[in-house]
Amino acid sequence: MTPRTTRSPDCTTRLAELVGRLPLAEKVHLLTGETAFTLPGSDRIGLAPLAFSDGPTGVRGLKFVGGDAVALFPSATLIAGAGAWDDGIAEEVGRMLAEEAQRQHIHVVLGPTVNLHRSPLGGRLFEAYSEDPYLTGRTAAAYVRGMQQRGTAACLKHLVANESETLRNFMDSRVSETALRELYLLPFEMAVQDAGAWSMMAAYNDVNGVPATEQDHVQNGIVKGEWGWDGLIMSDWFATKRTAASANGGLDLVMPGPDGPWGDRLVAAVRAGEVAEEAVDDHVVRLLRLADRVGGLTPEGPEPRRWAQDLPAVDSPVRQEQLRRIAARGMTVVANNGVLPLAADGRADGAVALIGRHAIDTVDMGGGSATVNPPYQSTVAEGLTALLGDRVRVTDGVAVRSRPVAADPAFLTDPATGAPGMQVVLLAADGTELSRYHSDSSAISIGRDDDLDQDPATAVLTTTLANDAGPVLLGAIGAGAWTVAGGAGEITARLRFAGKDPGETMLRPPAFAGTVDLPAAATVTATVALDPVDWRELLLGDPALGLAEESHLLDMTALGLTALVAAPAPRPDDELIAAAEAAAASAGTAVVVVGLTEEDETEAADKQTLALPGRQDELVARVAAAAGRTVVVVNAATPVLMPWLAEVDAVLVAGLPGQEGGHAVAAALTGALEPAGRLVTSWPAADGAAPAWDVVPGEDLVLPYDDGTFIGHRGYHAGHAPAPLFWFGHGLGYGTWEYGTVQAHEGGAGLEVTVEVTNTSARDSRETVQVYLEPAEEDQPIRLVGYRGADVAAGAAAVVPVTCDDRLLRRWDEATGTWAPLAGGGELVVARGLGDVRARVSLA
Ligand code: BGC
Repeated sequence: MTPRTTRSPDCTTRLAELVGRLPLAEKVHLLTGETAFTLPGSDRIGLAPLAFSDGPTGVRGLKFVGGDAVALFPSATLIAGAGAWDDGIAEEVGRMLAEEAQRQHIHVVLGPTVNLHRSPLGGRLFEAYSEDPYLTGRTAAAYVRGMQQRGTAACLKHLVANESETLRNFMDSRVSETALRELYLLPFEMAVQDAGAWSMMAAYNDVNGVPATEQDHVQNGIVKGEWGWDGLIMSDWFATKRTAASANGGLDLVMPGPDGPWGDRLVAAVRAGEVAEEAVDDHVVRLLRLADRVGGLTPEGPEPRRWAQDLPAVDSPVRQEQLRRIAARGMTVVANNGVLPLAADGRADGAVALIGRHAIDTVDMGGGSATVNPPYQSTVAEGLTALLGDRVRVTDGVAVRSRPVAADPAFLTDPATGAPGMQVVLLAADGTELSRYHSDSSAISIGRDDDLDQDPATAVLTTTLANDAGPVLLGAIGAGAWTVAGGAGEITARLRFAGKDPGETMLRPPAFAGTVDLPAAATVTATVALDPVDWRELLLGDPALGLAEESHLLDMTALGLTALVAAPAPRPDDELIAAAEAAAASAGTAVVVVGLTEEDETEAADKQTLALPGRQDELVARVAAAAGRTVVVVNAATPVLMPWLAEVDAVLVAGLPGQEGGHAVAAALTGALEPAGRLVTSWPAADGAAPAWDVVPGEDLVLPYDDGTFIGHRGYHAGHAPAPLFWFGHGLGYGTWEYGTVQAHEGGAGLEVTVEVTNTSARDSRETVQVYLEPAEEDQPIRLVGYRGADVAAGAAAVVPVTCDDRLLRRWDEATGTWAPLAGGGELVVARGLGDVRARVSLA
């Protein structure tokens, strides 16, 4: 299908005419979801019920948990870093996601996430591209282009200033107009101007005292007004706080449905003159325009969208190749004394001791709404063994998880069906059986994905474990009074939601676990007396939160996530460290895989430290002391501290690499694929040593963005924090580079720079030529203004032209409320990250 991106006035007239056929109540009805991820259709005007799905790195489908298997992509940080900031890869990802969407008949993919990495503590940074607005905007534009070319709408999220998760429904990001324009809105602006994104999502937080869903200034004033954008703005899920203020403030669609603050309340607000009917009409026109763009509007008759057939299966060789290549090429070599790439033939390196919990339980995705149900996930142990065979000896590492996690379904068998998973029975308060079914997953979402006559009071989960006789880690996740019984053992707990974010019922529910001695192949029964929270009482009872009676948040009555915890009990850390030391001492090279988990890099929570969880730092240090050569693989999307850096030979940042992750790490380590990534974020040297750090709002719920436009490398360069451990833009790849002549001139496309680079290494490689501007004005930060990747053969030279983007050569003038060009002058800085400057050119 050919998407239509340019709208003629005729088209808008046609849409307005369709809207004119609908009575007010019907128009309003179209402006709230029908279910969690679908919209109502209308036969009267040929509007199909549109389907939405998360998310940025995989198209999950209509179910929040337990849906069909879908392809799991590498984290956004790898996509942005991939192939040395390669627009082509981001565009390819967009095309692939569109195919994933088509297979599931999804019209709108809820991504990309274009919020910035303001503080490295942000829990959701793995979903977002970078600390830099220009890299973020360019990557997002390429992704959107790829996706929308295939007729699937992208959704830029979250508008705006949503850089952290703590108290996200209530906090107020206080940000200057200058920082808003120059930093936080810039990726949205670029993806609109350069790729014509068809939709956006308004954030949970307030911005300068006004909820994002009610931001007349941002939504009506800037996005729809100044930018002339004709797309649709939907709310984040349950984010809409007030009826008239949001409808007047530029929000077009409330999600999810069917309840919410619009419906009858909005009809009444129009009748009372609080909202003009023209405003409602404009929202519906935008909705119809979106439907038209994705093939969901056929007023002339029943001509349903034809979905593409013959799409690659989620585990097909095509997808394997793509996902492995994209992940590997996004990985970044941040330190290397020559030990990488590992010799694939084994002559030089001898045995490889592969060590770490992340080697055998590789974390391929982050937590929250970006999570998908992948067909498989590969581990580094599988990947490296596939490439190096029995040279690889795998040793477990220390514990890494900060919270109990849902059981691996492969460890469970449903006694009723004999299939992997568990048997679920839901009971009413009087003991009546409401539902009985098999679940492939150990996690279920009671009440959200079920269609029950009445609310369940009790859930019973039964499964047979694939355990040996002895200790098993057993427990549960989800609010309620739990009894988990197996063999002669039984553990109980009363779990309650502690936070103020109803989203936590799904995204961060309470959990417990303990070690129980069980006979082999034990059958376990977990019974929970469910305990839904009365959010109305809790949230309206706290005046400081300032919630209106109609706030959509109060509709979040679903019970949330309920899951069984069951895993072989881990060996004590001391034993594991001793075994790792012994393995390292007897091998030529030790590869230690460390990292974060889905509990650390997740929606609905921020981190409190950049230190690796558990005793992982000690593990690395002890292995490095025992091994001849030590390579560390960091399996995390965002910065971690490296107190052991000086003691190891190489460090590969592997991100959260998606379903092909383990194979991608192996390909990167051996050089089968070059890890050509460049860091998308600066890595601080210590906790707190960053230009923007705090993510916890004050008692007044305000989070001041006092750092202005000096976040990330801009702030480090200005001396607002000690120099980082690794700069934004740093990345060694496997080539070595000499920089030659650099020339700047005004060309047809504005300021252009040509940079001569020579690949002085013995292998073909890829360089990212990065151009920064250090403006003449004292109050202006240095900033990335252009970049281009170049593939250069071993020993060859290339002249790389880089265009500086005009949108980085202007400043927001708060006095006049307009853009002004920078004063001119200053210096262009050509650098491999600002810690490795290769040339400077003065501008006249
Ligand atoms: C997230 C959005 C997501 C939505 C739907 C929210 O919790 O903030 O990014 O698209 O849920 O799952």
